[in-house]
Parts: sequence; structure tokens; C-alpha cells
Amino acid sequence: MLPAIEVRHVWKQFLIRHNRADSLKERFIGLFNQRYRERCEPFWALRDISFTVEHGEALGLIGPNGSGKSTLLRLIARTLYPTKGEIIVRGRVAPMIELGVGFHHELTGQENIYLNASLYGLTRREIDRVYHDIVEFSELGEFIDVPVKNYSTGMYARLGFSIAVHLDPDILLVDEVLAVGDERFQNKCLEKMLELRKQGKTIVFISHIAEIVQRLCDRACLLMQGRMVELGEVSKIIELYRSAAAPRVLTP
Ligand SMILES: Nc1ncnc2c1ncn2[C@@H]1O[C@H](COP(=O)(O)OP(=O)(O)O)[C@@H](O)[C@H]1O
Ligand SMILES: [Mg+2]
Repeated sequence: MLPAIEVRHVWKQFLIRHNRADSLKERFIGLFNQRYRERCEPFWALRDISFTVEHGEALGLIGPNGSGKSTLLRLIARTLYPTKGEIIVRGRVAPMIELGVGFHHELTGQENIYLNASLYGLTRREIDRVYHDIVEFSELGEFIDVPVKNYSTGMYARLGFSIAVHLDPDILLVDEVLAVGDERFQNKCLEKMLELRKQGKTIVFISHIAEIVQRLCDRACLLMQGRMVELGEVSKIIELYRSAAAPRVLTP
């Protein structure tokens, strides 16, 4: 069977804007005065990344802040596109689980469930069928009828996670959400992901919590400054990260 995810020589460049000119007046001043002119500086967030993830495999992405983990996950989710290279994804990807992304702040938790699930392609009746499981897993109780702008980061994470895992996706992309929950909820999420892995789902998972990466992932990939340092056995990659980067970050 062909791999679930193929990342082939992927490069991602961002343009960092200095002296951002938002108004017409600022742009006009910039025409005459070099000092105030808007400049765009290219920045490579990812450089020549290649790997594959097999169906049913769980891959952990680890690396220091700013090493390109979230960018890589967004490329797989297709909310960003590579500057060079290509990414092939075989299977249905759940909306990427990233804090607060994909939610409309003025809408309630319930409305966001219906919106997210319908964007994913579920019919109203299909959503009705999983709605209660989503609410129950999220443990939001009556807060489900409150606009999500009033949620704490932990509540956001619980709702986002719960929606994504109940959509029956082939591929689950999880970015650091477990870091904000309490330990009991973290464990509950981990159990859920282990269950999904057992069902043959493919998972790409970012976490600073070494213990969780170790329990969930078959392999791990270490990114540093936009480059892939190594991909391989989880304990070996964690060891490598500990010796190469700030050791405190990975302490559970
Ligand atoms: N939309 C963007 N515009 C400009 N720079 C960005 C953008 N998104 C990410 N970056 C930069 O790319 C680098 C990698 O970011 P990110 O993928 O979020 O790292 P990580 O998730 O590993 O902490 C960082 O230096 C970040 O500032
Ligand atoms: Mg990140």
C-alpha cells in the first residue's frame, strides 16, 4: 500500500514584513523616505524536508520552538502550501487540532461543532449522531451553549480535540494541544489516540511531553532550524534532542 503521507523535498519560505505600511499615508511616506519603506525579508521556515508516514503509523515531531513543527503540520493539513517540493496525502484528514484554530469566536461550542463537522463533509444527520459523544468527551457541559470567545485555552483544546477525533478521520494531526489540559484530561486524550491508532488511523503528533510521544508514536522526527536532523526510533530521537537542545523543555 502507498504511504498515507509523502513529504518530498519540501521547502517553506515566509516573507517577514518590516516597517509594515498599513495605511495609504504610510505607503506615501515610504515613496519618498527609504527609512520608512516597507521591506520584505525572505525566511526559510523549512528546508528540504522529506519523509513518509505509513497508514496506521503514529509519527511524533519534536524540536525547539521555532524549528518548523507547526508549519510542517499545516502543510500536511493544506492550510499552507510549500514554496518548493510536494506533499501527497492519502486519506481524509481531520481538521488540524491546534489551539483555537477553525473556531468562530462569536459562535457557541454547539454551533462550532456543526460548522466544523459540516466543513469536513458530514451531513446534518451524521452530525446529530456524533454530537452527544463530542460534547460528552469535551466535558464542557452547559458551556457548550456559550460563545467560544469566553472559553479558556483548556476548554478550546478539549472541544477541538473532541471534534477532530469523532469525525472518523483517516489521518489525525495534533499540535501541542495536550500541553494546556490538566493531567487527567491529557491521559484521556492519550487513551483516545491510542485507541484510534489501534483502529489503524495515521497520526502526526507534536508534543513537548517526551513521555506521551514515547507511548503514542512508532517513530519520531527531530527538526531544528527548519531542517530535519533525524527520523527514527522514538527514544533515540528524544535522546538526540535532549543532548542537542535545551534539556529542560522535554522533561515531563
Ligand atoms: N505566517 C508566518 N509568517 C512569517 N513567519 C512565520 C509564519 N509562521 C511561522 N513563521 C516562522 O517560522 C518559524 C517556524 O515556526 P513554527 O512552525 O511555528 O515553529 P514551531 O511550531 O516548531 O515552534 C518561526 O521562526 C516562525 O516565526
Ligand atoms: Mg508550534
